[in-house]
Amino acid sequence: MTWLSQDNMESTIRDIGLAPQGQLKIDWVQAHMPVLNTLREEFEKTQPFQGKKVTICLHLEAKTAYLAKVVQAGGAEVTVAASNPLSTQDDVVAALVAGGVHAHAWYGATDEEYHQHLHKALDFEPDYIIDDGGDLVSTLHKERRELLPKVLGGAEETTTGILRLRAMEKNGELAFPMMAVNDAEMKYLFDNRYGTGQSVWDGIMRTTNLVVAGKTVCVVGYGWCGKGVALRAKGLGARVIICEVNPIKANEAWMDGFEVMPMLAAAPLGDFFVTVTGNKNVISGEHFQVMKDGAILANAGHFDVEVNKVQLAAMAQSCREVRRNIEEYLLQDGRKIYLLAEGRLVNLAAGDGHPAEVMDMTFALQALALHYLATVKTPLEPKVYSVPTEMDMRVAELKLKTLGLSIDQLSEEQKSYLASWQHS
Ligand SMILES: NC(=O)c1ccc[n+]([C@@H]2O[C@H](COP(=O)([O-])OP(=O)(O)OC[C@H]3O[C@@H](n4cnc5c(N)ncnc54)[C@H](O)[C@@H]3O)[C@@H](O)[C@H]2O)c1
Repeated sequence: MTWLSQDNMESTIRDIGLAPQGQLKIDWVQAHMPVLNTLREEFEKTQPFQGKKVTICLHLEAKTAYLAKVVQAGGAEVTVAASNPLSTQDDVVAALVAGGVHAHAWYGATDEEYHQHLHKALDFEPDYIIDDGGDLVSTLHKERRELLPKVLGGAEETTTGILRLRAMEKNGELAFPMMAVNDAEMKYLFDNRYGTGQSVWDGIMRTTNLVVAGKTVCVVGYGWCGKGVALRAKGLGARVIICEVNPIKANEAWMDGFEVMPMLAAAPLGDFFVTVTGNKNVISGEHFQVMKDGAILANAGHFDVEVNKVQLAAMAQSCREVRRNIEEYLLQDGRKIYLLAEGRLVNLAAGDGHPAEVMDMTFALQALALHYLATVKTPLEPKVYSVPTEMDMRVAELKLKTLGLSIDQLSEEQKSYLASWQHS
């Protein structure tokens, strides 16, 4: 439906009537995001985004909604669009719109609708953007170049988006500064590792309602996300196999106590497969060929390209949905292979995403990155910027405070000892 706000701005959403139930979800996460609450109080007083327009393209569930509210509390006019059509929660989007944020998204949008929504969110003519995976930035540079001069900067949420931004920067094509929020330590150490680790298994378990203990889990990619997914699989009692292409990461996985082997060797052994590489076709035809009957495939990487769905469909005599978010592919030889959430991020498309306490840190970094862009004295070049260490430290200190933890401080003597080379 189309919904007009008081200022006559249009939103395209499923149903505004769902707002009360969405607001309950936002209230729940707000109560578990103390760092963001601290920043909200600060922004309410200082109004760093006064008069600015911000377009946010993230997974539209409750934690993201609360980030949008915090940015709005800092004086911005905010529009949201989805970074993935299967992770949008229509009730949360309705609550945002009822609260004065504009939105263009609904659950299950087709590819065409998804792109229309991105364009509508850009018609808003943002000064700042927050992106997840790079689709908004890429659409701006490819299809909406007339808007580029107005954009003052943005922040990117995930590994895949930053890879795309760095490629654009290298080719001299990036038109405005982007903060690499994913690369902040308070992001990837917690969000990618512990957030993905927990929420991927939450998504798989609630979708399949099957036991993990005693099963063989194959994790493809042992980066920050893969480490979390493997750690939690081990904790659930699974036998865990890691597939990697990077010899350092493969050694790390081995020393962490996991089996390491190529995908082709792991394919016949796995009961569950989880891809987290940010790469394409890491599980494909030759692997489906040798998988066990009943193998379950899930992806947690940003795009739905890690499991080669085209080859899987071509090898199947039929495909049907056997349970919400589970597609059964019946192969010619009678084996069945199950794909969760159409190969999209399983923790978001078949779950609620990362826990609120983890997203508290990630979204505090997003809010501070936007604050940095809005208050920086000298305008930044159109490049990819690391989050300043002080910002990382500030989020870490705020988090410790909210946990009621205190730590030691370096003495002056210790500082000068660490800074000198003449001692023995
Ligand atoms: N599901 C989520 O909530 C969530 C959260 C954060 C990041 N992500 C996404 O997850 C993906 C991984 O992110 P990350 O931070 O772990 O990245 P990373 O760069 O730390 O790790 C990726 C790993 O995959 C390995 N790899 C690449 N191609 C491979 C192949 N063909 N076979 C086996 N291994 C391969 C790389 O060597 C690397 O070690 C990205 O797409 C990222 O955007 C998802």
